[in-house]
Formats: sequence, structure tokens, C-alpha cells
Amino acid sequence: MNPTESQPHRVLEHEPITSLSQYIRVGGGAGLDAARALGPAELIGIIGRAGLRGRGGAGFPTGEKWRAVARRASPWMPATVVVNGAEGEPGTFKDRMIMRRNPQRVVEGALIAAHAVGADTVVFALKSSFGSEIARMRTTIHEMRSAGMTDGVDLSVVEGPSEYLFGEETALLEVIAGRQPFPRVAPPFRAGLESSSAATAVMAAEGDATVAPPTLVNNVETLANVPAIVARGPGWFREVGTDKSPGTVVCTITGRVRRHGVGEVEMGTPLRDVIEAIGHGPLSGREVIAALSGVSNPLLPAARHDTPLTYEDMKQVGSGLGAAGFIVLDDATDVVAVARDIARFLAVESCGQCTPCKSDGLAIARHLDDTVGHPTSGSRDPEEILVDVKNRLTSVTDGARCHLAHQQAAVVGSFLRHLRDDLRGSTQGVDGAAVAVAPIVDIVDGVASVDMSQSDKQPDWSHGSVDSGAWPAQLYESSETPV
Ligand SMILES: Cc1cc2nc3c(=O)[nH]c(=O)nc-3n(C[C@H](O)[C@H](O)[C@H](O)COP(=O)(O)O)c2cc1C
Ligand code: SF4
Repeated sequence: MNPTESQPHRVLEHEPITSLSQYIRVGGGAGLDAARALGPAELIGIIGRAGLRGRGGAGFPTGEKWRAVARRASPWMPATVVVNGAEGEPGTFKDRMIMRRNPQRVVEGALIAAHAVGADTVVFALKSSFGSEIARMRTTIHEMRSAGMTDGVDLSVVEGPSEYLFGEETALLEVIAGRQPFPRVAPPFRAGLESSSAATAVMAAEGDATVAPPTLVNNVETLANVPAIVARGPGWFREVGTDKSPGTVVCTITGRVRRHGVGEVEMGTPLRDVIEAIGHGPLSGREVIAALSGVSNPLLPAARHDTPLTYEDMKQVGSGLGAAGFIVLDDATDVVAVARDIARFLAVESCGQCTPCKSDGLAIARHLDDTVGHPTSGSRDPEEILVDVKNRLTSVTDGARCHLAHQQAAVVGSFLRHLRDDLRGSTQGVDGAAVAVAPIVDIVDGVASVDMSQSDKQPDWSHGSVDSGAWPAQLYESSETPV
């Protein structure tokens, strides 16, 4: 059997749903109708009992998040729901695939979320380069509005920059506010978008009678799960997956496999089976040595590929599910180049508000480049270089205000732990196979293409051959930029 036919499709259709009427014909809209017949507390209870966890990477319980936002509702103004469709994690393409195939489900999920938290505004935040997805979302919003399904909720699409940090929740809100994607210190009770100015973020403390209510930010896939949960109930959702990670997960498989692709699997499916089902297994004559969950979690060596894909199991083996975008490495892969490219990607994308994140990150990338680019240049023993890298990995997270710096430490650190011999005796890219570390721009006929402009992106976020030596936080510093 074709593995794609055996995969479930709770949130990822096998074929695109091209219109609202087609969506309604196959049962779309039932979740929204059911949600609006319920009070917010009851609705949030259903999402909580279903055990849905955020698919943006951290796996935070969605019901808990909704409850926290609803509890801090402002008496003065309604809340806002922001749908995170920024998808910039290298190796991940699932949100874009969901928006291409079934944007209606995402909009319906967002409208249900708005009802749950008392929001009158929904903002879909996508990169401006996501042309077809932006068009699909706008058409769907128009169709739902015309069909009277939006119930006074204002829906819009905001087009954001290409930067990786755009997907980080607080940076996303900054972009909607018209500023740079610089993460903000996230207090435990952060008020978000102020409707009067589209997005003047205001800090709030618990119990504070703040003018701005909190903003709910959820990932595209998270919200795509919501309509069916409400229509069919938490018990149905829990029929697949595990107790702590119920439901399905949409995975992307790229790198050294026969076929690149996106597919939906039951939570708890072993990674090896997912690589087989979606990626059609290793390349001929090659052996898989490890897989990376984007550039967010420590790599998982092949010996651990029987690990079930759940948040708890992946954590237990020292990695993480992340956004379930797996980059597969095999025994022909130039491992040092991959480690260097990850370090460089994270260092370039760092905004530089925290000095160690940017400076140590760039130094780590440079050190690894020394071992890739100049294997015999002589002076430095690879082992010595790796000691330098290790030292930088301990300081790169100092004072970090967002998770990016921790990703640098975790992911590059995992190369040192698991693939140290490969790093030491590097294949130096001579006959080692390349694996791209950049955002995917499309997957056509089983081949992913990546954003080639990443290769000449400089640490100041310009493109070209010259590194100005400046950092984005210095270049775009503004008195308006809040902490
Ligand atoms: C550097 C960085 C990049 C991120 N990029 C994305 C992204 O592209 N899409 C996304 O949904 N979440 C991304 N996240 C996670 C978000 O900050 C946030 O946790 C998520 O949108 C919450 O939604 P969820 O609870 O539905 O998962 C990123 C986080 C970090 C630290
Ligand atoms: S940790 Fe890095 S990316 Fe995050 S805010 Fe600080 S400098 Fe920017």
C-alpha cells in the first residue's frame, strides 16, 4: 500500500479543499456551530480534556493557554487571537501544507479560539514570501465573511519578514505592531495587542487592571485540530496518540531520504516508521545515522529512532519533538558542514539584543568553519577547535531573552556529544554529502527546495558578500522598541 494512503488525515487533507462550499459539504463548520452553542468555559474545558498540545514546537497544553487568556480578559477591550503561520524552522513545511490544502480548517479553528477567549480580532501572521498561502487564507476569510460565519470577528492577514525570529511569539507580536522581529522579555502574564493601535504591546501583571487584554498566539496546526475536537469530542481526539500526547502530528521529512514530504501520523509512531512512511527510507546503499528536529532540539542518533513521536518520549531520550520537521543525516553526510551551517543559521538569525547569543554564536560558526574549510591549513588541531566550541556553548545562553540561544547550545552541543568523531575526522565536504540548513520554500515531486538567499545572509540581516559587523539590534534600535 502507498504509505500516504494509510496515513490519517485529521488536519492534512490528501487533496486541497478548494472552496468553502466544498469544505461545508464534507462537514466543515460543524465545530464552529457547536462551539457557538457553548459558553467559553465549557468550550475551553473540551479543548483541555482533549489534551491538545501546541504544535508550534513547545507542546504547551492549548486548553491551559486558552484558560489563562480568558481568565485575564479586560473589561475594557476584547482580546486578539494571533495565528502563527510564520513557519521558518529549517526542515519544516507542515503549516504551509495545511494552509495550502485546508485553509478553511485553520480559519474555523481560529474563530472557535476567538469565541473561547472573547476576541473580536483574528490576525493570521505569515511571511510575505508565502504567496499561495496568503492568497488561500485571504480567499477563505472572504468566503467565510460572505457566508456570515465570522460573527463580527475581524479577520486579517499580516505579511511579515523572512527572519527566523518572526516565528517567535513575542517577535511576531512586535512585527504586527510595525516593529522589527526582536523578541521581548516575556513576563508570565503578558498583555498583547492593543486593538486601538493594532498592536502596541503593553506589559501586564497578574491582577493588574491593564487596558490591554492578553493576546492568544497559537500555531496553524494547533488551530487546525480544534474544529474536529469540538465537533466530535475529546474522546474521539484521544482515540489515537498517547495519554500525554493525544491525536496526530503533521511531520516533514527531508535530508538524506528517498523522498521529501509532509504527512500526518498518529502521535506515538516510531520515528523510524515515519522516516519510512513519508521519506520512503534511506537512500540506496546508505545508512541513516541521525535525525534533527529542525534546529531546535538535540539530534537523535539512529540507535534511538524507535522512539515514539510524542513530546514526552522525545524529551526522555534527550531530544524533542519540536515542530516535527526531521532532517535526516546518513553515513555520507558531511556532518561538520551541517553543524557549521546550523551554528551559522542561528547566529545570523540572532537579533543581537543579547551579546553572547550573537557573538558566541558567530564564533561557534567560525570555529566549525575552520574545521570544514581549512582541514590542513595547519595550525589548529580539530580537537582544539572543538574545545573552543564547547567553551562558547556554555556562555552563548548567558542572559538570553529568548530560546534561540538555547537552541544553539542544545543542537551544536548534541553534535559534540554524539558525532564527535565525525567532527574530529571531518570529511571536509570533499566527498561528504550536503544537507541544506535553511527554510524550505517548496516540496515538489518529493524534492524540497530551500531558501537559497540564506547562504549570503549576513549577521546584520542584509544580503551580500560583506559583513558590516553590525547587529540588527544596533541597526534598528528605536526608542519605541519596548523591552
Ligand atoms: C526562534 C523561534 C522561532 C519560532 N518559530 C515558530 C514558527 O515559525 N511557527 C510557530 O508556530 N511557532 C514558532 N515558535 C514558537 C512560538 O514562539 C510559540 O511557542 C507558538 O507560536 C505557540 O503556539 P502553540 O502553543 O500553538 O504551539 C518559535 C519559537 C522560537 C524560539
Ligand atoms: S537570545 Fe538571541 S535571538 Fe533571542 S533576543 Fe537574545 S540575541 Fe535575540
